[in-house]
Amino acid sequence: TLLRAALDNGVPGMTGECGGELACATCHCYLDEGVRAKIDEPGDDEAEMLEGAIDVTADSRLGCQLR
Ligand code: FES
Repeated sequence: TLLRAALDNGVPGMTGECGGELACATCHCYLDEGVRAKIDEPGDDEAEMLEGAIDVTADSRLGCQLR
């Protein structure tokens, strides 16, 4: 996942406290439009968890859900 890659490479700001179980939103990240156009929209569970994240925009995704 994008979260795993971020953690493995020391990217700051993504902690993934729930281990990718869609329970924390600490993997919140922003994707640019070019990337978003190439991937599926968030599923219902991801969208619901994003509702509780801080500073959510149209570019927001959860890194643990991006493969
Ligand atoms: Fe917790 Fe993504 S790591 S929701």
